[in-house]
Amino acid sequence: MNISRRKILVSAASIAATLTFATARAQLQRSVPASLRSRRAGYGAAVTLADLNSDPHLAEAVIRHCTQIVPVYELKWGHLRRTEADYSFDLADNLLSFAESNGLKMRGHNLVWYAVNPPWVEALGNARDAERVLVEHIETVVSRYRDRIYSWDVVNEPIPDKAQHPGDRRPCIWSRHLGARYIPLAFRTAAAADPKAQLVLNEYDIEQIGDDFASKRAAFRNLIFELLDADVPLDAIGMQCHLRGDKAVDREGTQKFVAEMRSLGLKVIVTELDVQDQYLTGAINERDAIEASCVDDILSAIANAEPLESVLTWGLSDRHSWISQMFPRSDGLPNRPLPVDSDYRPKPFMSMIEKHLRAIY
Ligand code: XIL
Repeated sequence: MNISRRKILVSAASIAATLTFATARAQLQRSVPASLRSRRAGYGAAVTLADLNSDPHLAEAVIRHCTQIVPVYELKWGHLRRTEADYSFDLADNLLSFAESNGLKMRGHNLVWYAVNPPWVEALGNARDAERVLVEHIETVVSRYRDRIYSWDVVNEPIPDKAQHPGDRRPCIWSRHLGARYIPLAFRTAAAADPKAQLVLNEYDIEQIGDDFASKRAAFRNLIFELLDADVPLDAIGMQCHLRGDKAVDREGTQKFVAEMRSLGLKVIVTELDVQDQYLTGAINERDAIEASCVDDILSAIANAEPLESVLTWGLSDRHSWISQMFPRSDGLPNRPLPVDSDYRPKPFMSMIEKHLRAIY
């Protein structure tokens, strides 16, 4: 990517919080001082349009650090499909135009998920309706963003948390009506709608040490083999990497898994990295160091044989993270799960992103 084409401003001090998004964006499009050019190739973050609109410092930091974004919720069914008749594309369109006007790529998250479906989807009553709705949704959404959203989480989180058997799959409205074939159907439909898009199977809790992680990874691996055996157009494996700071990363298991995936011709990307610090004790600098070492461990394990191509964190700043709602600390202190702190100062976590991803300036 070429900075001279990009025209970015990193003086958010001049941006009042009340500015409209479009105005803020226009103001951001000036040159970045060399000292602030800290983008790493392939690094990106999940953002919401609401956070970008209400916090100009977030937009500034995204432009400073990221080469790509992914919407946190704007492309999920729960937002996009409040009713069967309508698609609410406005928010996702705005995020895409923010990305494009700042030289960022955008990933799509997600096309099929067991969670965050609107009530009318959960109420679908038979296989015929389920297939019609699923196919129409994927065709409509993927072709709308063809050649613009370069990579899609086609199926998100298909494996249950406590997989007893490699054949275990997480039940969802689609499997209830269509059985296991909902996954190949989703991939084939997405591939037909945008043959160039990278199609990803995305999963979490496959990266750390413990029986639950190992059996979930085994079931995930089993599903991947099934899909490849059936010639399903699967391009990449998304490792979410919602790491728990109080548990060790399974470096050996991850390395082996990643090497195997690559030997099958699949890319491996990091889609939702953050570190849950709910149970971490000690001073802030000690907790930050533990998180950074988890990040170092996972990124070294994945980058073992090939450089990392794409690493997204689920948020950029501790100011805007789902972890604060989902996994608050019992001591009442703020969570610190992300690469920059709530005042946008890079943390040791960010140093690990910098260690493992190539500088682009
Ligand atoms: C989470 C978001 O961060 C929340 O704001 C949302 O309401 C629920 O989903 N794995 C995923 C993401 O694939 O979509 C989840 O995002 C976090 C876990």
